[in-house]
Amino acid sequence: MDAGPPGQERSSEPRVRLGERVLRDGRLAVYRHPLIVRLWHWLNALCLFVLLVSGLQILNAHPALYWGSSSDFTNPWLHFGGGDSPPFPSWITLPPWQDLAAGRHWHLFFAWIFAASGLTYAIYAIASRRVRRELCPRRGELRHLGRSFADHLRLKFPEGEAARHYNPLQKLSYLVVIFGLLPLMVLTGLTMSPAMDARFHFLPLMFGGRQSARTVHFLTACTIAAFFVIHLLALLAAGPIREMRAILTGWFVIGRRKGES
Ligand code: HEM
Repeated sequence: MDAGPPGQERSSEPRVRLGERVLRDGRLAVYRHPLIVRLWHWLNALCLFVLLVSGLQILNAHPALYWGSSSDFTNPWLHFGGGDSPPFPSWITLPPWQDLAAGRHWHLFFAWIFAASGLTYAIYAIASRRVRRELCPRRGELRHLGRSFADHLRLKFPEGEAARHYNPLQKLSYLVVIFGLLPLMVLTGLTMSPAMDARFHFLPLMFGGRQSARTVHFLTACTIAAFFVIHLLALLAAGPIREMRAILTGWFVIGRRKGES
């Protein structure tokens, strides 16, 4: 998770700055995640989980995807399952039995929480300059993206000064998720709502029809699921205890004790 900007020394001793503290064992703790970021992060993770499993319940009712505006089983772009039983098993759908109406209720309820909390986080992150200070790659950092990627693959994670901020790959992926994938999820969701696309005609036009919006909605969900898997793998590789402590308490500790993961 913390393969810092290449070019920076990996082992340089960090200096203590305002809002940071030195622990009893001599390591430096940096206040990395303000409360509002942590609240949004966990609410967002919960919403995405419920949206995913209730989304599969809804997809079970018509397990095919199309481009354009019309949908009939004769010419789908993608079709799930083959027989009469629903393609997504009960253990991965909400509710676990077949109930389209209940699935829709769960989905819409959590979609509003997801959209409202995402908007609140985005406004906070822009207004507080978190986007500029922590998430936007600094000038020249993008040139080292390849090296940062290679460092991740080799599970090389820096300590010292370089561990103080997100690395370029982390910054870029968080930006794409926050300002790309999550809003795209909301927009394609709104496009599928008859009340919304009747009022805002530009929505179906923007995606080339309601069925295209549904397909993009599904592909966006798959991309977010892929990000989630990589996010967790990176966290495990970078040191799960240290990373979890950071996203739960806000404090990221630079340096590891002997034997600490
Ligand atoms: C079990 C689920 C999850 C765990 C344990 C987890 C863990 C973490 C940790 C430890 C960080 C801080 C990384 C660091 O300080 O180096 C983080 C940040 C972040 N995570 Fe997750 N995460 C989870 C789910 C998700 C999901 C589902 C998403 C969105 C699709 C997500 C998006 C983000 C973003 C955008 C940040 C950066 C936020 C900011 O700094 O403003 N996470 N996560």
